[in-house]
Amino acid sequence: SLLLVIGKYDDVRLFAYGVVDEYGRDDFPAEFVFGAGTSAYQVEGAVLEDGRSLSVWDTFAHSGFPLYNGANGDIACDGYHKYKEDIELMADTGLEAFRFSISWSRLIPNGRGSVNIKGLQFYNDFINRLIGHGIQPHVTLFHFDLPQILEDEYGGWLSRKSVKDYVAYADVCFREFGDRVLHWTTINEPNALALGGYDAGVTPPGRCSFPFGEFNCTEGDSTTEPYLVAHHILLAHASAVRLYREKYLVMQHGSVGINLVAPWYEPYTNTPEDVKATKRALDFNLGWFLNPLVNGEYPKIMKKNAGNRIPTFTKLESERIKGSFDFIGINHYTTAYVKDNNNSLEMENRDAIEDMEATLIYSGGEVIPSQFLVTPLSLKKLLNFLKEEYGNPSIYIQENGQVQRSNRSLIDTPRVEYLHAYIGAVLDALRNGSNTHGYFVWSFLDLFEMDGYKSSFGMYYVDRDDKELARYPKLSSQWYGDFLKGKNPNGITL
Ligand code: NOJ
Repeated sequence: SLLLVIGKYDDVRLFAYGVVDEYGRDDFPAEFVFGAGTSAYQVEGAVLEDGRSLSVWDTFAHSGFPLYNGANGDIACDGYHKYKEDIELMADTGLEAFRFSISWSRLIPNGRGSVNIKGLQFYNDFINRLIGHGIQPHVTLFHFDLPQILEDEYGGWLSRKSVKDYVAYADVCFREFGDRVLHWTTINEPNALALGGYDAGVTPPGRCSFPFGEFNCTEGDSTTEPYLVAHHILLAHASAVRLYREKYLVMQHGSVGINLVAPWYEPYTNTPEDVKATKRALDFNLGWFLNPLVNGEYPKIMKKNAGNRIPTFTKLESERIKGSFDFIGINHYTTAYVKDNNNSLEMENRDAIEDMEATLIYSGGEVIPSQFLVTPLSLKKLLNFLKEEYGNPSIYIQENGQVQRSNRSLIDTPRVEYLHAYIGAVLDALRNGSNTHGYFVWSFLDLFEMDGYKSSFGMYYVDRDDKELARYPKLSSQWYGDFLKGKNPNGITL
């Protein structure tokens, strides 16, 4: 085994936080899957190898964006070359499933048209090896990395042309990999992409019209672009799902969903204003996508506050978007406190964040928190909210995990505590009737993040000073592995 014993967690204080604290793998249904995840640009590196073309993320990482501190994903974790070793680690850890994304610009370097055989071979081998180790592949088709060529040609997601190209790309993936991949996610965090990429300008392609502090964004229009991009993404998602259902489902029997980032929101004070603002925040984040997906239209409050800056669906589009998912993937990390903020800006000059008329307050007020507040009860509330408000859709928690910043120790005790508490919250939610089917730790290993390589979420440390980029297990990988293998379920020596 590649795993080394690096520490003990029997002295880690694992406490309840109001959710189930004593549990083991056996308390979850056998068909519930536990895994971990990564995404293509964040781990693969080899950005110009074997015919891959650049994506908007490559461009953004090389644009001097200050938070990246000069870092980029050119090499990342060298996952393109080290994947065999990584899959061995996954198997040693006992992962039942692995979530990763396909790089569109590696598979179809021109954005549309011919398929790159080398790209195809890479993902085929990746998938085959996972399956060979008994690990289910859960594939995300798009994780923030649009081929740059499509951005240059017509402005990427800003143009409706993106819908057709995205569906053609999805078609290639379903056709080539769908005989083995049964779990597909169309788009990762479109709600974060629309705001980060087109409002605040802090994620690719880094557009905004109201520069946020020192961030160096390019020309954009924050008042309309986030809404337009979200609209095209919903259309692209629904068309890809329709394609799967019409062309592949009968042979492949897989399921297709979308992914949303979903912090929980709590009112900052119990005044009626803050309570109402909290409901607005949920509508502007989750409702933005879930209302169309479940009910066929944007939330009323969004239409009211954004007016004609938010596009409308035709009757046919609305019918096609409604129900266009088999599951909803949730990325959940923490809770934000919500304060009413009734700004008096002219309607046409507001961006999507101002339309929400609420201020979100995260722990410590830092742009990138050094640690997330551990509020597992909120995950239970979120899952309950999805059950009550959106008809109890099938859910996969596709990302959950604790960030390490100042403390880079392999003895990542806070992460063990965090994972223990949040997995307990999932069990609690299941016992309350939540329709959740899987849980994935973010991330499998330390990878390229919002601030380069400063923040890490990994259960495995990647030694960036070593030219081989050696991986070392952290305590969390040991704890998670033991949990998955049914040992020491509570982290207490029995
Ligand atoms: C969500 C994103 O999907 C992922 O790419 C990112 O690394 C994590 N959040 C942590 O910031």
